Amino acid sequence: MASGKKFIVQSNWKMNKSFDDGLAYLSAIRSAESRFFGAVELVLCVPSTLLKTLADAARGIACVSMGAQNVHWEDKGAYTGEISAPMLKEAGARYCVVGHSERRDSFADTDERVQWKAKACLKQGITPIVCIGESLQERKRGQTLAKLEYQFLTCFEGFTSEDMENIVIEYEPIWAIGSGHVATPQQAGEAHQFIREMIKKYHSKETALKTHIIYGGSVKVKNVLEMSEARDTDGVGVGSDSWDVQNFIKLAEICAQSFSKHSAS
Ligand code: PGA
Repeated sequence: MASGKKFIVQSNWKMNKSFDDGLAYLSAIRSAESRFFGAVELVLCVPSTLLKTLADAARGIACVSMGAQNVHWEDKGAYTGEISAPMLKEAGARYCVVGHSERRDSFADTDERVQWKAKACLKQGITPIVCIGESLQERKRGQTLAKLEYQFLTCFEGFTSEDMENIVIEYEPIWAIGSGHVATPQQAGEAHQFIREMIKKYHSKETALKTHIIYGGSVKVKNVLEMSEARDTDGVGVGSDSWDVQNFIKLAEICAQSFSKHSAS
């Protein structure tokens, strides 16, 4: 892990929670903040309707950054129902998930569109959390690394080294999302190392060290320690096990303790 890098613990709320739920969630984090030793950055990716209210309420909670879950690639225009990166920025988003498999599956997020969306975020100074990963069939056929390479080359086509340093790459094997089947630390580590090697190959070693690579897919309190210690892992992305705030605090605490221990050694 490059010096100065914080460990990311991302919570993806998906289509859950009301304003009151969100405010209560933040206030629980505020009370627990000292337990994270400044070692972790908690990235809360919330429904867009909650973003502005929660971003305002989160001011002063140093470990929390707010994020969105999707964005349109154009700044404005006749795109009914869509939300642009300048709008997310104005609402207080510092991060935005791009290319989550649930969106690829149901809302036609292709690798090319993912690239456009990530670029739209970067233009606004929003960090895109770009999700890539293989299906179960691709893994069984031994095509995992080929899929990752294809997605890397397509999603990040035209990215400068500076762009690469300002993104988060989330390795999310599709078969692990919402399924309860977490990847083994070896599987995650192999994928992360491969992604890091590609950044080195197409950019530089320095850039590769600066880019955050995180793991997502059935991360839970019971497995977060081993997943956070998988090779080349700069964070974890958590869905359902982060919806209960006390659970999320536990996850973050485990990551903070492990991160502090390893950075001290
Ligand atoms: P999960 O979701 O933790 O419920 O598997 C992960 C995600 O979708 O980011």
